Amino acid sequence: MSSVLTDLFPHPIVQAPMAGGVSVPQLAAAVSDAGGLGFLAAGYKTADGMYQEIKQLRGLTSRPFGVNLFLPQPETADPAAVDVYAHQLAGEASWYETELGDPESGRDDGYDAKLAVLLDNPVPVVSFHFGVPAREVIDSLHRVGTLTFVTATTAEEARAVERAGADVVIAQGVEAGGHQGTHRDVPETDGSGVGLLSLVAQVRESVGIPIVAAGGIMRGGQIAAVLAAGASAAQLGTAFVTAHESGAHALHKQALTNPLFVRTELTRAFTGRPARALVNRFLREHGPYAPAAYPEVHHLTAPLRKAAAKAGDAQGLALWAGQGHRMARELPAGQLVEVLVAELAAARTALSAGGAR
Ligand SMILES: Cc1cc2nc3c(=O)[nH]c(=O)nc-3n(C[C@H](O)[C@H](O)[C@H](O)COP(=O)(O)O)c2cc1C
Repeated sequence: MSSVLTDLFPHPIVQAPMAGGVSVPQLAAAVSDAGGLGFLAAGYKTADGMYQEIKQLRGLTSRPFGVNLFLPQPETADPAAVDVYAHQLAGEASWYETELGDPESGRDDGYDAKLAVLLDNPVPVVSFHFGVPAREVIDSLHRVGTLTFVTATTAEEARAVERAGADVVIAQGVEAGGHQGTHRDVPETDGSGVGLLSLVAQVRESVGIPIVAAGGIMRGGQIAAVLAAGASAAQLGTAFVTAHESGAHALHKQALTNPLFVRTELTRAFTGRPARALVNRFLREHGPYAPAAYPEVHHLTAPLRKAAAKAGDAQGLALWAGQGHRMARELPAGQLVEVLVAELAAARTALSAGGAR
């Protein structure tokens, strides 16, 4: 592992930030205590909500951790498309006996206020999703001793991350659960993304900064593979959704290994930006025509998802999942890190012995 990372956490395992209440302080603390890097997700939090979680996490662990922010997104090109989608979702609202959300309710997610909190109360790592922060932002975080990680989904995006002065690029393969961290929203929702092993190799030949590999990783053997391809560590999301400390809804945890859900797809149905989820009724029915409008669609569908959760209906939830979801294990997070580390060691021994298994 690159020394900038080994100084922070001994095992090459990062617990992905997971917005929507999944990566709670208890989860991040358990991972950091086990020698990985735990993360809080502040993308949907207010600045104060983020600050409170950081305080709580500091009370649970003295180990390093990270906080994740979403880059503000450009204005939606076609507000009329959001109106059309709202019209198409009217039946869902009456089915779940709720109202649709106000699409304009949260265009400003408080990015600047969150940055101000992170400069006043520095944390070891800040990561960014959905774009590259301005160089001054990265420089100001460096001045308070914070390392910066930025997601990239192509070699070109990785070069932009390096040019901006970030310390680490998170190479996110198309297999990944949740939102693709593309720097700009792209027209296609599927079929154009790069698979993780290929992406890591391309990024390795494109930039000099350390790489954290993310997407579909569920076992230590896969971590060995991305390390061999040039990554310094692996970032796992779906594998930690089923951890005991995860704040994911029980329906989400159960769905990952429920044989009823056999496929994942990239969809705009829930938030307006491509994200990988288990294929359920809502995704099947609304995915094909959902508009490119983040965060408007996120706010529009929020009450539907809340009502579906209340009704115990997994068919109406955003069941974020990477392609490896069926291999999810229900373990305490610290134990999951230990198992992954043991599998990684076994895979490395097998590799160096040159033996096929
Ligand atoms: C439930 C869930 C929520 C996620 N939320 C975020 C987030 O808030 N910020 C972020 O940078 N990545 C987020 N991701 C993406 C992860 O950072 C990572 O790229 C992905 O989990 C890796 O693929 P995997 O799920 O197959 O391990 C999320 C992923 C999941 C599964």
